[in-house]
Amino acid sequence: MMKKCLLAMIGACGMICGVLSAIGLAADQPDATIAIVPRPLRMERKEGTFVLNGNTTILVEKGSADAENVGKQLAGWLKRSAGLELAVSPTEEANAVGNAILITGKNANTALGNEGYQLESTAKGVVITATAGPGLFYGMQTLLQLLPTEVFSPSKVEEAVVWSLPAVRIEDQPRFRWRGLMVDVSRHFFTKDEIKNYIELMSQQKLNTFHWHLNDDQGWRIEIKKYPKLTEVGAWRKDIGFRLDPKSSTAYGPDGRYGGFYTQDDVREVVAYAAARYVNVVPEIEMPGHALAALASYPELGCTGGPYSMDSPGGIFADVFCAGNDKTFEVLEGVLGEVLDLFPSKIIHIGGDEVPMDRVSWKKCEKCQARIHNEGLKGEPELQAYFIRRIEKFLTAHGRTLIGWEEILEGGLAPTADVMSWRRNGEVGVAAANAGHDVVMIPGYRCYLSRGQGPMRVNPANTNAKKKGNYDPLTLEMVYNFEPVAEGVAPDKVKHIIGSGGALWTEGTANYARLQFSTFPRACAAAEFLWLDPKLKNWEDFKNRIDTHVNRLKVQGVNYYQGQPPPAR
Ligand code: ACM
Ligand code: ZN
Repeated sequence: MMKKCLLAMIGACGMICGVLSAIGLAADQPDATIAIVPRPLRMERKEGTFVLNGNTTILVEKGSADAENVGKQLAGWLKRSAGLELAVSPTEEANAVGNAILITGKNANTALGNEGYQLESTAKGVVITATAGPGLFYGMQTLLQLLPTEVFSPSKVEEAVVWSLPAVRIEDQPRFRWRGLMVDVSRHFFTKDEIKNYIELMSQQKLNTFHWHLNDDQGWRIEIKKYPKLTEVGAWRKDIGFRLDPKSSTAYGPDGRYGGFYTQDDVREVVAYAAARYVNVVPEIEMPGHALAALASYPELGCTGGPYSMDSPGGIFADVFCAGNDKTFEVLEGVLGEVLDLFPSKIIHIGGDEVPMDRVSWKKCEKCQARIHNEGLKGEPELQAYFIRRIEKFLTAHGRTLIGWEEILEGGLAPTADVMSWRRNGEVGVAAANAGHDVVMIPGYRCYLSRGQGPMRVNPANTNAKKKGNYDPLTLEMVYNFEPVAEGVAPDKVKHIIGSGGALWTEGTANYARLQFSTFPRACAAAEFLWLDPKLKNWEDFKNRIDTHVNRLKVQGVNYYQGQPPPAR
C-alpha cells in the first residue's frame, strides 16, 4: 500500500522523480506492468502511455547500420505478434517525433558506454539513444519489455491487445562486460537452430557472451577442413551414454551412431546471428585434457597411440594430448587457425581444466618426459604450463587473447592469459585478478546451472544427506545473490573481474527442452547480478518482476522451471 501511494505520487509529480534521479537513485518499480529484467539502473515513471498503431513509424539514424539493424528487429517483433507492419525509415532527426519510435546515436550520453542507452517514452512516441549498437539493441529489449507480454509471441496474437507502453525515462548501463552462458555441446549435440534460439533468448536478458564448449571426451562438434576425421570419427559415439534413455534425444546419424557436428557454414550462420544480437561467441577448443574425441580421431596425438574410445562415462581421463610431440601443436594450431577464421571473438577459450596430474599419460611417455628434460621443466604441472604458453603464443601472434579454466595457473600462468575461475569460492580467480589477469568468475556452487534447482534430490541409498549422490539445489535466489567480486580481490584489481554467468554442462541434458529447463529462469537472475549495481539488487523486487518476466518466456514456448519435475532423460 505504501508503495502504491509513493508510486502514485511519483507518477503525478515529476519533481520527485527529478530529485530521485538527481541524487542517483533508481525510482522504485512503479507497478506490475513494468517488470524489466534485468532491472534498469535508473528509471522514472511519468504520466501517460504511448499507443502504437499501424501508422507508427520506426525512425532509424541515417547511415547507422546498427540503428537500422535494431529498427528492423523491432519491426519484426511487432509484425509477428501484433500484426503491425511498421515502416523502418532513415532519419536525421535527433529529437522525438510524433507517433514514432526513434532509434539514434545522436545526442547519446557517452558516459553510458557502448552498452548503455537511454529510453524516453511519452504519450507521443519513444526515443532510444545510445552511442553504439549494443546500447541501441538493449534499448529495444527494454522497449519490448515495456509492451504487453504478447509482443514476444512468435505468431499473430488473435485476442485484442492494446499495444501500449507507459511513459518512462530510463538511463541504463551494465555493471560487467562479460555476461555469459556456456553450453557444453560435446556430451550431447544441440542443433544449429537450437543454438540460435538459445542465443536469441540470451540476448533478451541482455547477456552478451555465448561460450560454446565445442569438444570434450565424448564428442568433437566443429568441422575442421584440415582434419576431417575430427568430425567423421570424433562427432559420433556408439550410443547416448550417461545411462540415459536413448529416446531422450533425436541426435542420431543415418547409421544409428549418436552425435552430430556443426559445419563451418553452420558456425558462420550462428556467429552472424549472434552478432546481429550483439552476442559475442567465444569458442572453446578444449586441450590438453578432455581430449578423447580428438584422440579417437587421430590416435597419434596421444602418448600411447591408442586406441581411444569416446564411449566412456563422464569423468576425468588419464589420456590427454601428448605434450612431447610437436605434431600435437601442429594439429592444434591448424585447428585454431580455422577457428580464428570463423570466430571474430578477441578471446578464445582453450579449456585447460582437469588434467589429472597424478595419473596423466605424460608420466609414462618418453616424448613428454624428454620435453620436461629438454625444457628444464619441473614435472608435469610445468609441462601443462608449457603447453598453454605455446598455444598462448600462437593466439597472441594472431591478435587474440587466451582464456582458460583456472588450472592454467598451475605450473605458472601464461602471462597474457585470462582466467575462468570455477572451483570452490573462486579463490584462484581472486589470486589471478590480484596478479593482474582478467577473470570470469563462474564458481560451480553458484553458476553451474546444470545443477538441480530444488527441492534437494536425495539418493535413497545414502543415509547421510551430505554423502555423494545427494545434491543441494541451486535455487533461483542463490543465483540472484551471487557476487562475482569475491572476497580478497584488492580494490585496485576489482576491474579485473570482467564478469560471470551460467554454465550448462550437459552430461544429464540430452535435449533442448531440458537445456531450457536448466537455464531459465536462473539465467535471468544471473543477468541481473551481472547488470545491476549490487546496491540496487533486491530479491523481493526481483521475485515480483520474474513472475511477469517468465510469461515472456512462456509466450515463446520456452520450457522454463517453475517447480515441475524435469523433462524425462
Ligand atoms: C569444469 O567444470 N571442469 C571447468
Ligand atoms: Zn606424451
